[in-house]
Amino acid sequence: MNCLSPSILSADFARLGEQISIVEQAGAQYLHFDVMDGCFVPNISFGMPVLSSLRKSTNLMLDVHLMIQDPIRYIADIADCGADIITVHAEACWDLNHAIDLIKERNLLAGVALSPATSLAKLDYILPRVDMVLIMTVSPGMGGQELIPYTLDKIRDLKEIIDCRGLKTDIEADGGINDKTLKSVLDAGANIIVAGSSIFEGDIEGNTKRLLEIMK
Ligand code: DX5
Ligand code: ZN
Repeated sequence: MNCLSPSILSADFARLGEQISIVEQAGAQYLHFDVMDGCFVPNISFGMPVLSSLRKSTNLMLDVHLMIQDPIRYIADIADCGADIITVHAEACWDLNHAIDLIKERNLLAGVALSPATSLAKLDYILPRVDMVLIMTVSPGMGGQELIPYTLDKIRDLKEIIDCRGLKTDIEADGGINDKTLKSVLDAGANIIVAGSSIFEGDIEGNTKRLLEIMK
């Protein structure tokens, strides 16, 4: 099933609850929550207190993308705040297998993210344990960038591996997705679509509905 995961990184934080209600009413299924630590990526975004407030105010699947170094340190806290999916970067973990254990112990969905230049080979042995692979279609760390074309080949290759191995792993694509690039991302094989600036800049309801229409 295709799902839309609006990234609140591009929302107006002074009107966050209101803007989340708009995407929820318009039919989005997930809410993408980008945690940045100023270390794994240069920017700092938001964290636990914001996540637990959102948990109380929305029924959307809380899709937490940890762009932080050594994410193992924070998996329990993020789970306590009400995440449904926790995604860690393969590049940021000293023990990816242990990170997945910690997420699964909490009965949450486990995601592994790969930055654009990271090879799919990192997933060779771990793939059957992963519920979702997040393919970064831009460099991690900020919204509003242009999709890097070679990441579409990576999604295509990953989809082929998942199908060949008889797995059901979701593929999430994150970065530079708008009404012009969405179709190519879907055609490549992604089924969970993150969109930040293309949803929260301008008419949020209209933007959400337009992307959902393309995803039907
Ligand atoms: C970037 C984040 C994205 C970001 C996407 O590091 O992981 O989730 O919000 O923003 P857009 O859709 O504007 O590229
Ligand atoms: Zn993200």
